[in-house]
Amino acid sequence: MLKRFSISLEEKLLDIFDEHIKTHSYNNRSEAIRDLIRKAFVKEEWEADKQVMGVISLVYDHHQHKLQEKVTLVQHDYHHHIVSTTHVHMDHDNCLEVIVVRGKAKEVQELSDRLTSLRGVRDGNLAMSSTGISLH
Ligand code: NI
Repeated sequence: MLKRFSISLEEKLLDIFDEHIKTHSYNNRSEAIRDLIRKAFVKEEWEADKQVMGVISLVYDHHQHKLQEKVTLVQHDYHHHIVSTTHVHMDHDNCLEVIVVRGKAKEVQELSDRLTSLRGVRDGNLAMSSTGISLH
């Protein structure tokens, strides 16, 4: 059930907020506020080292000596944390690996750091998500 409440904001802050709404294509202010609140809770869970899900993406040159092997080795060290791995052959040289992970925030971060710091990894990213369980 949705409940209504009103918010008082300084005009300048509201202008910035409306700009944010436009940039991120929200339909209305309520939707944008809801998203911001959820994000704050996700961040809290992350900081409290709670259970999270994440997506690690890696771009690397598979010609780099033993890199493919190392990427696999690290993933096997963390096999309990890995939900799935998708490998995409981007072009002649480059591979994209998208790894869906779950676990405590710090462990997921650690796994991501180990992969993205491998020599030859050209781009590495970790997007963290959680159910925002503290909301329920
Ligand atoms: Ni490939």
